[in-house]
Amino acid sequence: MKSKNIVIVGATGAVGREMILCLKKCHFPVKNLRLVASEKSAGQKLETPFGKIKIETISEKVFAESDIALFSAGSGISKEWRDCVVKNNCLMIDNSSAFRYEKDTPLVVPQINPKAALKHKGVISNPNCTTAIAAMALWPLHKAFGLKKVIVSTYQATSGAGAKGMDELLQQTKEHLANKRLTKNIFAHQIAFNIIPHIDTFEKNGYTREEMKVSWETKKIFGDEKILVSCTAVRIPTFRAHSESIVIETAKPITPEKARKVLEKASGVEIVDDTLRNKYPMPLNASNKFDVEVGRIRQNLVFGKNGLEFFVSGDQLLRGAALNAVEIAKLFI
Ligand SMILES: NC(=O)c1ccc[n+]([C@@H]2O[C@H](COP(=O)([O-])OP(=O)(O)OC[C@H]3O[C@@H](n4cnc5c(N)ncnc54)[C@H](OP(=O)(O)O)[C@@H]3O)[C@@H](O)[C@H]2O)c1
Repeated sequence: MKSKNIVIVGATGAVGREMILCLKKCHFPVKNLRLVASEKSAGQKLETPFGKIKIETISEKVFAESDIALFSAGSGISKEWRDCVVKNNCLMIDNSSAFRYEKDTPLVVPQINPKAALKHKGVISNPNCTTAIAAMALWPLHKAFGLKKVIVSTYQATSGAGAKGMDELLQQTKEHLANKRLTKNIFAHQIAFNIIPHIDTFEKNGYTREEMKVSWETKKIFGDEKILVSCTAVRIPTFRAHSESIVIETAKPITPEKARKVLEKASGVEIVDDTLRNKYPMPLNASNKFDVEVGRIRQNLVFGKNGLEFFVSGDQLLRGAALNAVEIAKLFI
C-alpha cells in the first residue's frame, strides 16, 4: 500500500469536511493532507484527525505536489481547474456534475463498477447523491432479477444544498416560531414546515435536472441503457440523509423473501425491516452511517410477481459524496 499526498478542494464545505473524516475512518494511507477553500477561509486553521491544517487558496502548485485531488467546490471550479490538475499528473475525483456525462469520464460507485475507474483519463466522477444511495440497493437486485423499470420518489435533506442549506432550515425554523419574516436565500420557497417538489433546474421534459440525473447516472453506472428510470425529487425539512421510495419491475419474478436474501449479502446495505417492532429506514438513524438502510420491502401491487417496493435512507454526505470519493481513491493505493 502506497501512501498518497491528498488535497481536498472545498474542504470547509458540507462534503469536504466529511471527506477529511472519511480519509481517517477508511484508514486511507495519507502522506500529507492539504485543504483548499475560497479566499474567505484561506489562512484559517482546521482541526482534523491529521492535525491542525492551514487552509490554502487554489493554485497549480497544490496539484503539482499532490497525487489525488478530491474536488467538492461546485461544477464551476471543477471545470476551471480540470486541465491544470490533469497536466500535473494529479488524479481528480470530482463530486460535482461537471463531467459525469462525458463518454471518457468514468462515473464510479466502487461496489458496482470499480473497473471503470481504471480506464480514467485523469478524472473520475462521483455520482449524484440520490443516485448513489439508490444504486446500493438496486445493483444487487439488478444482478439477481434484472431491472426493467425503476420509479423513485425522494425525500431529500437540506444538506444536499450544502452547508448553507442546513443553516437556512435552522434560521427559518427559529424565525417561524418567533413569528418573524423568513430569510430565503437558498431554496425557492420556505423549507421550514414545508416540502418543495423542486431540486435543481427544470428541464424541457418537465422533470428537474436532479430527477434526470437519477435516470442518466443509474444507466451509466450499471452499464445498461435499457433500464427505464423515472424520479420525483422532493426537498424536505431535515438536516441530513436522503430517503427514497423505490418501485421496481424485474425481468425475473421477485418476492420480498428472495430480495431480502440478496440484499443481506450486499455490501454497503443494511436491512432495517421489522414492521412488528416499527423498524424501518429513517434519515435520523441513517445519518453518519456508511451503510444505506433498506426496509419496508414488499411485493408491489401494480407489477405483481415481477414487482417490488421498498424504502431506503442513506447519508448523502457520506455514501452519496465523501465516502464514495474516498473509496474511489482507495482503488489507487
Ligand atoms: N451536499 C451534498 O449532499 C452533495 C452530495 C453530492 C455532491 N455534492 C457536490 O459537492 C460539491 C460541494 O457541495 P457542498 O454541499 O459541500 O457545498 P458547500 O457546503 O457550499 O461547500 C462549498 C465548498 O467550496 C469552497 N469554495 C467555494 N469557492 C471556492 C473557490 N473559489 N476556491 C476553492 N474553494 C471554493 C467553499 O469554501 P468556503 O467555505 O471558503 O466558501 C466550501 O469549502 C458540489 O459540487 C455539490 O454538487 C454535494
